[in-house]
Amino acid sequence: MKVGIPTEIKTDEYRVALTPAGVRELVERGHEVIVQAGAGVGSTIPDEEYVAQGARTLPDAAAVFEEAELILGVKEPQPEEVALLRPHHTLFTYLHLAPDPELTRGLAETGATCVAYETVEDDHHRLPLLAPMSEVAGKIATQAGAFFLERPLGGRGVLLGGVPGVAAATVMIIGGGVVGQNAAFIAIGMEADVFVFDRNIDRLRELDVAFGGRASTVYSSTLAIEEMLPRADLVIGAVLIHGARAPFVIRRSQLGLMKERAVLVDVSIDQGGCFETSHPTTHSDPVYEVDGVTHYCVANMPGAVPVTSTFALTNATLPYVLALASGGVEGAIRELPDLRPGVNVADGKVTHPAVAEGTGMDYTPVEDVLSVTA
Ligand SMILES: NC(=O)c1ccc[n+]([C@@H]2O[C@H](COP(=O)([O-])OP(=O)(O)OC[C@H]3O[C@@H](n4cnc5c(N)ncnc54)[C@H](O)[C@@H]3O)[C@@H](O)[C@H]2O)c1
Repeated sequence: MKVGIPTEIKTDEYRVALTPAGVRELVERGHEVIVQAGAGVGSTIPDEEYVAQGARTLPDAAAVFEEAELILGVKEPQPEEVALLRPHHTLFTYLHLAPDPELTRGLAETGATCVAYETVEDDHHRLPLLAPMSEVAGKIATQAGAFFLERPLGGRGVLLGGVPGVAAATVMIIGGGVVGQNAAFIAIGMEADVFVFDRNIDRLRELDVAFGGRASTVYSSTLAIEEMLPRADLVIGAVLIHGARAPFVIRRSQLGLMKERAVLVDVSIDQGGCFETSHPTTHSDPVYEVDGVTHYCVANMPGAVPVTSTFALTNATLPYVLALASGGVEGAIRELPDLRPGVNVADGKVTHPAVAEGTGMDYTPVEDVLSVTA
């Protein structure tokens, strides 16, 4: 199989989809790896390191797409990349299609098979390829929130941990999954008062044990949220329903309950956002204000720390990449059934039910378009 690694072109994205270690594993199994020149530079990986492990470099994305059959990415393809996809391609990357009918339609029209990292799901309903980036984004969420609470940056001017004689800030985290837990650990480390909201009681039990009394867990009803909003200095939104558009957990009408210049960080923005007033921002221009509340809604938060994120991501994706290269999509699904719900678009059809629902497009089961068993 010819495996292609184009340079990421989303704004402020510095990650790359494969490391030299990944090239080595692929080449040793008889595959060819084609890396766009400079693809690793943002993650401090020069071309020579790829070449030393057996990759070839090509000057631009068009040449990589032309030669490769399996295209590895990090963020969702941008319009100029969609234009390069053909029916024989398999695209393996984050897609976040449920809130994006235009991209979904564009990918379907290419005829390519598009496998989303974020909907690859194991036997225990965990998301092994979302988790490493959620760990990073959760940690950044608290850091970014603390930063934008500083007065010169438009915040309330409160220090998360307080000082002796002055109370700590209150951090409210809605969604206690991988992002929420990691955000909470950093907030606990910064000595804030931390409250984690979730609707899954078993998950709240696990968090309670993990926190060992250093943070509180709360069942996430509308009333409980409204009772906490007037106290919160920083609110982190981290809810997810697998593959689906994020539900709104804070409406515009509820912003009036919050303190002036409090900060909202919407980590779920890649799935459309969990605050009604959220819209995607970039690392270059990360915040805006609505009704006196600062909003931070960067859709590729881990892209800010590529030296950590590239390696964390590729450690997780490599076994799946090797399976896709060796067996194609159908063989890979037989070898690693976690990949089956990863197939979002194939043969012009939407093959993930939550993506179909989110985009308003028809749903076609994967087994209707690929030779895999139901
Ligand atoms: N912006 C970024 O750069 C970035 C990076 C990584 C992950 N993310 C996103 O962060 C979000 C969370 O990811 P995760 O890995 O933590 O997911 P997860 O599945 O581990 O956790 C989500 C949690 O949300 C809870 N939940 C669902 N609906 C809820 C509701 N209405 N109220 C309260 N809790 C609710 C679930 O019970 C679950 O515990 C996803 O949308 C993911 O794509 C964004």
